[in-house]
Amino acid sequence: MTRLHNDCFIRALLRQPVERTPVWMMRQAGRYLPEYRRVREQAGSFMSLCTQPELACEVTLQPLARFRLDAAILFSDILTIPDAMGLGLSFAEGEGPRFARPVRSAAEVRALPVPDPEDRLRYVTDAVRLIQRELGGRVPLIGFSGSPWTLATYMVEGGGSREFRKVKGLMYQEPQVMHELLGKLAEAVGLYLAAQIAAGVDAIMVFDTWGGVLSAAQYREFSLAYAQQALERIGLDRLERKVPALLFTKGGGQWLEAMAGAGYDALGIDWTTDIGEARRRVGDRVALQGNLDPQALYAPEQSIRAEVERILESYGPGSGHVFNLGHGVWPDVDPGRVGAMVEAVHEFSPAWHR
Ligand code: CP3
Repeated sequence: MTRLHNDCFIRALLRQPVERTPVWMMRQAGRYLPEYRRVREQAGSFMSLCTQPELACEVTLQPLARFRLDAAILFSDILTIPDAMGLGLSFAEGEGPRFARPVRSAAEVRALPVPDPEDRLRYVTDAVRLIQRELGGRVPLIGFSGSPWTLATYMVEGGGSREFRKVKGLMYQEPQVMHELLGKLAEAVGLYLAAQIAAGVDAIMVFDTWGGVLSAAQYREFSLAYAQQALERIGLDRLERKVPALLFTKGGGQWLEAMAGAGYDALGIDWTTDIGEARRRVGDRVALQGNLDPQALYAPEQSIRAEVERILESYGPGSGHVFNLGHGVWPDVDPGRVGAMVEAVHEFSPAWHR
């Protein structure tokens, strides 16, 4: 394993001293970059980009060539697990993900295999190994998965959703079937993340994009409990190196105290929560990642710089903050604005670490 030249991101996640606040961006490799769109075109489909390690590696590294980022994130998707379970994933142009065989009955849940990541998801671990060779320790590489709950929303709905009627219908009508599905997914997510770690990722992140659509009680029972179970399945404390784990629940600001007790080293927060307030609530239990509104990148440079300053000031002095957006970057954002955000973090953050 190559030693890291820049481990600022890892230290911040572990709340160890840093010289400045590390910065990276959710969805930092993607359609807002013309060089991404070129490779994407060449690959044909989004999934063919994900399944070719050389191409996945190339687009993972693209944002690092443009911006002074402190982490790389594996280029892949959260829907690789349900795809490997045999649901038949496709991305219709401009429509988002679709599953040919959604999962809605007890029999369908029971028939779902838990995929062996070194078999059906080998393209992901191959990409990790290749990216780590190309990165050569410049910055840490983040591996990731969807949370069991968020994966279940796509698997039951058969794609994206605004109302979540099918998945919440199943949860309320047949909670035991939902628990069986989530238990299987926690197992699959744990194995998948363990395989990414064995292949060399330096940190892991669980995306719970849709945890925030649940009520407080349902969030704990159907989302957080299984995000915790997936983490425990990895067995991070049995590893010989420390691999920090991050949990991001969009809309999770109201449940930070509960999230801080799930065993993760850090929590990602969206832009609706004040980060200073979040820090006071979680105390020294976890680090925090976030939380510029992704649409703030539509603003002129001066406003972006002011927003960055405001977030750094709200978090205040000391380690434990990773600067990021509150959700993924939008495809129509000008890369120049992203650069302005990254440079503002480099410029303003050292003052908070003296
Ligand atoms: O952050 C990164 O740069 C790493 C790559 C990454 C992608 N998806 C690439 C991608 C990551 C971490 C994800 C996670 C992901 N995928 C999530 C959770 C994070 C979040 O944003 O909340 C979710 C919900 C998905 C499912 C998914 N995949 C959706 C809803 C879409 C959008 C469909 C569309 O066409 O808008 C995708 C496709 C996808 N994943 C793209 C990228 C760059 C765009 C596909 C393309 O280039 O055509």
